[in-house]
Amino acid sequence: MPQITVLEHLLLHQKESPMATGRFTRLLNELILAAKIIAREVNKAGLVDVLGFTGETNVQDEEVRKLDEYANKVLIHRMARAGVLCAMGSEENADLIEIPDPLPRGDYFLMFDPLDGSTNIDANVNVGTIFSIYRLPSDRPNANCTPLLSEVLMPGSQQVAAGYFLYGTSTMMVYSTGKGVHGFTLDPSVGEFLLSHPDIRTPELGKIYSVNESYWHYWDEAAKESVAYFKSLENERRKPYSLRYIGSLVADFHRNMLYGGVFLYPADARDPKKPQGKLRLLCEASPLAFLAEQAGGRATDGSRRILDIEPHELHQRVPLFIGSRRDVEKIGEIFAKHGAGN
Ligand code: AHG
Ligand code: MN
Ligand code: MN
Repeated sequence: MPQITVLEHLLLHQKESPMATGRFTRLLNELILAAKIIAREVNKAGLVDVLGFTGETNVQDEEVRKLDEYANKVLIHRMARAGVLCAMGSEENADLIEIPDPLPRGDYFLMFDPLDGSTNIDANVNVGTIFSIYRLPSDRPNANCTPLLSEVLMPGSQQVAAGYFLYGTSTMMVYSTGKGVHGFTLDPSVGEFLLSHPDIRTPELGKIYSVNESYWHYWDEAAKESVAYFKSLENERRKPYSLRYIGSLVADFHRNMLYGGVFLYPADARDPKKPQGKLRLLCEASPLAFLAEQAGGRATDGSRRILDIEPHELHQRVPLFIGSRRDVEKIGEIFAKHGAGN
């Protein structure tokens, strides 16, 4: 395996691409540095006082853990100084995050989930950082001011890049600029992410389903039938899929992308304030949908392609069915039969 870094890979393979600009490279470089700092802290969890809750709740009404807050602060602090962003959005912040004066601004908009799967962190289970990058037209009015929310709310198909860092048995970066999905593993001895998984393709038909099945009673008939399909002897494989559910979306997604499988988080009737389920369109579903499609997979909300959904709120939630192409298409057939999306 050639020992090449993320930025060397970007330059080697994307010379003709607009993504090979100095500004995008700078954005990626800062993101990588932020992730290395977060990884260092995650790896020390248990030894230093970073476990447990802060006592606060976030915009999503969820309890904030100390590592959520730490990861969020590191990302905001570093990325504000990259000089290439016009604004940021984080799962942990209610509003758009401005780039404070006098720091230079740029055209890119960064959306992120600073720590995904953080309920797992106290038990030493994999967590990750998910990121999504958009570029605003440089000739937009008031280009040196913070954009309006309406300017940054774009469907996922407009992402110029997306990816995640996974803090697990080793630390990985997996990302795409729309030219395939590439995985890099942090070599702690040299402090660089080195190419370990070039051009990841996900199997067309999976063998794993991942879902929090305890919500069964809150699902609609289409979601129930979809899950029943994967467990049945009458599915396309003629045997039940294996159930694997870590409860860290990023880790469940990563495993399924490599092995083949489908992750489901349907809408449910648990909480009338959250009829669309738990997952967030802009910082979770869209970036992973971009990667899934680049790896040959699919992502829908049961009927619509995730990447086509026009967001109307920064923290919009969405049902998510993501993974191997034929499995996600099967869910689409089941939803269509139940008249979902009409
Ligand atoms: P976060 O830690 O960023 O709030 O995200 C948690 C998400 C996701 O990672 C995971 O798939 C899901 O919550 C698990 O939810 P349930 O506990 O409802 O299964
Ligand atoms: Mn999350
Ligand atoms: Mn999170």
